[in-house]
Amino acid sequence: MAIEQAVDSERMESFFRRLEAKGMDALWRQRPGDRTGGAPFPPFRWRWSDIESFVQEATELVRPGPQAERRVVLLGNPHVPGNLGATHTLTAAVQTVLPGEIAPSHRHTAAAIRWVLRGKGTITMVDGEPCEMNPGDLVLTPGWCWHGHINQSDGPMVWMDSLDVPLVGALQAMLQEPYPDELNPATKPVGDSYARYGSGSMRPVWGSTSSPISPLLTFPWSQTERALHQLAKIDASPFDDVAFQFTNPLTGGHVLPTIGCWIQMLRPGVRTQAHRHMTSAVYQVFRGRGSTIIDGVQLDWEEGDFFALPPRAWHEHVNRSTEHEALLFSTNDLPVFEALNLYREEPYADRNGHQDVIGSYEERAG
Ligand SMILES: [Fe+2]
Ligand SMILES: [Fe+2]
Repeated sequence: MAIEQAVDSERMESFFRRLEAKGMDALWRQRPGDRTGGAPFPPFRWRWSDIESFVQEATELVRPGPQAERRVVLLGNPHVPGNLGATHTLTAAVQTVLPGEIAPSHRHTAAAIRWVLRGKGTITMVDGEPCEMNPGDLVLTPGWCWHGHINQSDGPMVWMDSLDVPLVGALQAMLQEPYPDELNPATKPVGDSYARYGSGSMRPVWGSTSSPISPLLTFPWSQTERALHQLAKIDASPFDDVAFQFTNPLTGGHVLPTIGCWIQMLRPGVRTQAHRHMTSAVYQVFRGRGSTIIDGVQLDWEEGDFFALPPRAWHEHVNRSTEHEALLFSTNDLPVFEALNLYREEPYADRNGHQDVIGSYEERAG
């Protein structure tokens, strides 16, 4: 019996080698590294104090234009293959435009969002619509839209960019081209899409009734903040506390086919219950300080920080302040998972929905 097994094993190895030589393999073959669950890469955090100093230094090193199409500091997660994305599907970056500068227009198949952090008086031109940018505003630049930025104020402008570049790259669909002139011209008034679709519950009686891309391009902070406080009075999610998904006003679905955008308020002292899901996300701490416990590891954050949540990782959020709310903006790949029927979500069943904290991010990061 033992001899037979040895012969079989030898023959099997030979079979594998001959398959490989012809560009084939056996599906039953076990490989180290095959995974069935758990987060595929660890979380990562970028401190605002680091980002801010690099962004400042970048203003001394380059100007938008021929030297650098965009003055962008990319938050590349060293644990993600290729180190291009904050997660395997989404990039996160911080862009700055100084007074009088123009980031020249271009277009690309990758879609983008801008989440404004500092400054005012800058316009993002999106297919001829001048979109104003103020802190807390969300501005969309859907795929293949001409877009550029111009700072007409007397102060620097800083915002978060998040794009679907890793996903589009994996699909071999990344195309980009420059606009023939510096900035694509305005063909619509400022606030055009907001005037048409900004009410949230009405639309003009003419025009399209459906689109996979939100026709509303700007979501002003004043409206977002008011909505959070109104919802906080009546309801909240056990996993995300007071949380909104920004929506396409025509469909009620996501704003873009590949990027979901969320804003959430963790009320003072709130600790959410843990859950996990198929999607990944990159968070920007707009206000406040707290922690997110990811697979038992406590990752502390404070205003300005960014952190990446890997797919399938258990996570819960804590607002460490008992007086002030914490506000988290995030982008996620939920639209893709929903469209492909791949979305799954699971609550953490043990210990009333809370994980044991088994270490800190600082310890793990060394
Ligand atoms: Fe762009
Ligand atoms: Fe979650």
